[in-house]
Amino acid sequence: MKLILLGPPGAGKGTQAKRLMDKFAIAQISTGDMLRAEVASGSAVGREAKAIMEAGKLVPDAIIIAMLAKRIAASDCAKGFILDGFPRTVAQAEALDAMLKERGLPLDHVIELAVDDAALIERIAGRFACAKCGAGYHETFQPPKVAGVCDACGGTEFTRRADDNRETVKTRLDAYHRQTAPILPHYARQGRLRQVDGMADIDEVTRQIEAILLGGGA
Ligand code: AP5
Repeated sequence: MKLILLGPPGAGKGTQAKRLMDKFAIAQISTGDMLRAEVASGSAVGREAKAIMEAGKLVPDAIIIAMLAKRIAASDCAKGFILDGFPRTVAQAEALDAMLKERGLPLDHVIELAVDDAALIERIAGRFACAKCGAGYHETFQPPKVAGVCDACGGTEFTRRADDNRETVKTRLDAYHRQTAPILPHYARQGRLRQVDGMADIDEVTRQIEAILLGGGA
């Protein structure tokens, strides 16, 4: 299965992608996570991307497309993958079409998580992750079962992303509306675009996505 999850920052792409990865045993490809790993490693790509990401702007297409092309060629993508955070521009969507065509791998689904801008700011402001294993949480919507202890690994230290502040979120939302939303008609024209109600609670969003993937509609 080859799936794209589309939606603005904080829409729940990463939350849902992790669940689908476990259920369908396919790879999750988050270009945001890949870039944060490059930044942490201090690589040339990471050095170029760091300030751009912290400002909430998009990293240049050429860097992202090269990174993605390498990633989908990896063996763990042979059974399929979920793209989380890619494509984000029309140029990236067109490059992906060409890459998949060349490999004879058509996309199965493109699912948009639709969420109001005001809710996104609240979601991003309350997000944190386990410093040890990276499991994601939200202060209100997805707290750990025991306060201060990671459900997944028992870790007790948590981190917040450098770009998760109210000012940067506004720039990220602006980038989404100006540069990413124009790819929705691209996939609508291909007859692949489906929308789910990303304002619903996390379990309900999962249910809607699985209904599409399993052929029953949302
Ligand atoms: P990236 O890491 O992709 O960030 P993003 O798109 O801004 O998305 P987020 O990770 O913030 O949100 P999400 O939709 O995954 O939400 P989550 O599930 O965590 O990109 C970061 C930066 O990297 C970009 O700004 C750019 O600079 C660069 N970049 C990355 N890809 C690029 C590309 N292709 N081209 C150019 N630049 C690129 O959920 C958020 C919170 O809400 C969580 O706390 C969660 O618990 C909670 N939550 C989730 N679902 C629900 C729900 N249904 N109800 C209530 N709470 C919920």
